[in-house]
Amino acid sequence: MLIGFIGAGNVAQTFARHLTHAGYKKLFSNSRGKESLKLTVHSFGELAHAVDLEDISRADIIILCVPWTEVTNVLSKIKLRPDQILVDATNFLRANLEGRVSSLIVKDLVNAKVIKALNTVHMEWIKDVPAKNENVLFISGDDQAAENTFSSILKDLKFIPVDLGSLESGGKLQQFDGPLAGLNLIQKG
Ligand SMILES: NC(=O)c1ccc[n+]([C@@H]2O[C@H](COP(=O)([O-])OP(=O)(O)OC[C@H]3O[C@@H](n4cnc5c(N)ncnc54)[C@H](OP(=O)(O)O)[C@@H]3O)[C@@H](O)[C@H]2O)c1
Repeated sequence: MLIGFIGAGNVAQTFARHLTHAGYKKLFSNSRGKESLKLTVHSFGELAHAVDLEDISRADIIILCVPWTEVTNVLSKIKLRPDQILVDATNFLRANLEGRVSSLIVKDLVNAKVIKALNTVHMEWIKDVPAKNENVLFISGDDQAAENTFSSILKDLKFIPVDLGSLESGGKLQQFDGPLAGLNLIQKG
């Protein structure tokens, strides 16, 4: 399973450290091209490679971790297949979405199975690798098989996935103005 990152900043590098520990192969992309990512990929060893943004579609699962203001621009540059999974980790911060669910906006921009995940936690909270089987990570989506696939990866990384259902309902709870955004939920015992 090849995991691709659109964006190679805090979210990408934090989650990638967990993936590296568990032996997953990764592709990183950013706005400045693969040459700019040489040092970053080097720090992740042989399981990581840099690609230009247009080539991130080589991955099976693609994690979208760019500023919300770049989402439309970025997704217009890549071509995904319906069997691919796009994990929307973005937070729309101060943008006005006029009541729309941010992940449904993302879903309208791609031909792939969209999942909302990783956006509710500060990366500082999940920086320790490996995780301790106690950090709850919420996940929402409209395709159960895709959600199951990503949940399995989260379990593999020693996180506790909690499925909130559809993007319309669960995504709304998770997104930046929802009650679960910024909630550091720990399950003990
Ligand atoms: N930080 C957190 O704790 C946290 C937690 C959950 C969710 N989030 C959300 O996750 C997203 C990423 O946050 P972050 O903290 O990882 O941000 P970050 O550290 O600033 O990294 C942003 C990344 O996006 C890339 N990028 C920007 N514009 C791009 C474009 N047009 N095409 C391709 N790549 C582009 C940047 O590459 P260049 O440097 O080449 O421009 C950079 O690698 C945001 O939506 C944020 O709200 C953040």
